[in-house]
Amino acid sequence: MTLLDARNLGKRYTSGGRDVAALDDVSLSLAAGETLGLAGASGSGKSTLARVLTRLVPADGGTVRFDGEDWLALSGSPLRRRRSKMQMVFQDVLGAFNPRATVASVIEDPLRIHAVVPKAERGREVAALLDRVGLPASYAARSIRDVSGGERQRIAIARAIASRPALVVLDEAVSALDVSLREKILELLVALQAERGMAYLFVSHDLAVLAAVSHRIAIMDAGRIVETGPAAEVIGSPQSAAARALVRAVPRLVIEKEDRNAV
Ligand SMILES: Nc1ncnc2c1ncn2[C@@H]1O[C@H](COP(=O)(O)OP(=O)(O)OP(=O)(O)O)[C@@H](O)[C@H]1O
Ligand SMILES: [Mg+2]
Repeated sequence: MTLLDARNLGKRYTSGGRDVAALDDVSLSLAAGETLGLAGASGSGKSTLARVLTRLVPADGGTVRFDGEDWLALSGSPLRRRRSKMQMVFQDVLGAFNPRATVASVIEDPLRIHAVVPKAERGREVAALLDRVGLPASYAARSIRDVSGGERQRIAIARAIASRPALVVLDEAVSALDVSLREKILELLVALQAERGMAYLFVSHDLAVLAAVSHRIAIMDAGRIVETGPAAEVIGSPQSAAARALVRAVPRLVIEKEDRNAV
């Protein structure tokens, strides 16, 4: 089942006399429960696409159908309500929060806003979410400045899945973590997907990361999607110059897992 279908998205930025087509006629689709990896050189438009899809910045043109709705046409309280279905995890997304905010309040926000569970059960739900991302319930009382980078990303994931979304957009969500921590978070994300059937749009400049989690991979170059295919094919026999350059940048890239089964 198609969960998200984006067509002909465009986005231009003008700054300092420079006009940039950050998105140039971008179309992509995602099935329910699928992971689409999105790779591309720095400045190719990956984050712009993630921000347009999550409604953080407006597109200049194009359409997005998400979960049966005209997603870009939603505004006001209908948009606020539907946001429960599309959540995001950015690189150090909690860095933007008040550092004194408690872990509990960070995870409770979406539970409250989207009335996921009755008020009396919120504390228990926070503990269950913490447990699910591998943190002790005692972390609920800590302030977010007192947790490590890896723990923060776990908390960001707990927050993102709290509202039981159908799609999570992850933009360089593991890029700041060291290799062993990164592997653990990727394993967690794959396990959560198997349990909950969420789709992921997984943005990374690192094809090795995408190889570990993606069913399909799309490659961006200068605001356009220049190649899309099953992960093993894009990595094993890249067709575009942009994809070949990314594969070359990871010289020892081996596809350890067979192409994740198509959904
Ligand atoms: N707010 C903005 N104002 C002006 N230009 C912008 C803005 N945001 C992005 N751009 C430009 O749009 C283009 C795409 O940027 P974007 O952040 O989407 O790339 P990216 O693929 O995410 O890169 P990276 O891998 O470095 O994160 C770049 O040329 C960038 O300079
Ligand atoms: Mg980016």
